[in-house]
Amino acid sequence: MHPDPEAPPPSPAWALARRTGRMNPSIVREILKVTERPGIISLAGGLPSPDTFPIEAMQEASRRVLADTPHEALQYAASEGYAPLREWVAQDLGASGMRVDPSQVLITTGSQQGLDLVGKLLIDAGSRVAVESPTFLGALQAFNTFEPEYVTVPCDDDGPLPAGLDAARGARFLYLLPNFQNPSGRCTSLPRRHELVQVARSAGLPLLEDNPYGDLWFDAPPPPPLASLWPEGTIYLGAFSKVLAPGLRLGYVVAPEALYPKLLQAKQAADLHTPGFNQRLVHEVIRDGFLARHVPEIRARYRARRDAMATALAAHLPPGCRWKVPSGGMFFWVELPGEIDTMALLPRAVAGGMAFVPGAAFYAGPPARHTLRLSFVTVPPEQIDLGIRRLAQALTTPPERTAS
Ligand SMILES: Cc1ncc(COP(=O)(O)O)c(C=O)c1O
Repeated sequence: MHPDPEAPPPSPAWALARRTGRMNPSIVREILKVTERPGIISLAGGLPSPDTFPIEAMQEASRRVLADTPHEALQYAASEGYAPLREWVAQDLGASGMRVDPSQVLITTGSQQGLDLVGKLLIDAGSRVAVESPTFLGALQAFNTFEPEYVTVPCDDDGPLPAGLDAARGARFLYLLPNFQNPSGRCTSLPRRHELVQVARSAGLPLLEDNPYGDLWFDAPPPPPLASLWPEGTIYLGAFSKVLAPGLRLGYVVAPEALYPKLLQAKQAADLHTPGFNQRLVHEVIRDGFLARHVPEIRARYRARRDAMATALAAHLPPGCRWKVPSGGMFFWVELPGEIDTMALLPRAVAGGMAFVPGAAFYAGPPARHTLRLSFVTVPPEQIDLGIRRLAQALTTPPERTAS
């Protein structure tokens, strides 16, 4: 049969996979688009401050890598990662109390890929996955693809409540951020870490520990990782994004031996390997102890901005607002009084010249709509003060008067 030359061509029969129903645009990225408008003071992004990027060290290391090992750096490479970088990671984690063999380290394309690979490895459709409340939005995005059922573990200012882990019994894993959590900024104490590990261990509940902010402490280093307290029951994620530069997309997973082969197969299927040039570049930068000089500079800069935001919040926010001053990381978490929905507040704040992230984005279960996240690291102290004044103004100005 000849096709009718006059008939319109049939439309292509794209059928989206069921899992796409659980994929959503990241609200943070959507907000970031708005905040690129000139004049807006954005306290919304979770971006490191670009003035901390070690550009000269990168230029020099990049020149050396391309001079010394150009073919190796530009060739396909091992899926596990660049061996000297895996060794560096294993040794570096040793200083925090973990005992890691380099064979347990998988170099990933950012720790975001670690979240995706662990999801692929451990979540079936309908599997229960336990998360903190609130938790990191990007992890929910990564896990959602695998169609889990979330169990939300109640938390206080010290992290997840050990008694709350009962509800998580039988979950595939509990996802935790013990150091300067994104979004709440809290850091879990050593006694609470011990309690959590004890309860998780006796319940046979595996842990996924995500630690991108642990090096960004202002007052004292955080307690040892959960992975040092229960190595065989914990998968650990780390990254170079917050101590070097996120554009390199370099992170790592430390997996118990039993999981490593399948994790590696998931990595191979995803992208064969993390860019070899970036791995060699970072190793070249850090191998002589560069981070021991560089990270204290980041801490000093971020500490000053943390202090500026603490002062501005105390000076400008109306009574009834509640926050804790974080002892590291990048975020303040603010609870507003009464029934204020921060999602509805955001357009008023943007109209008044500032932006934040509404807290509802960070909940797997019913959200606390009166919360919001503020980043203090990308904006200089004077701008932080102005941004918080604008937030206070949006809070105290009736909606109809800011509509223009
Ligand atoms: C808690 C947490 N985990 C993981 C990531 C992903 O970071 P990256 O992929 O750059 O390592 C972020 C980024 O902000 C984060 O805040």
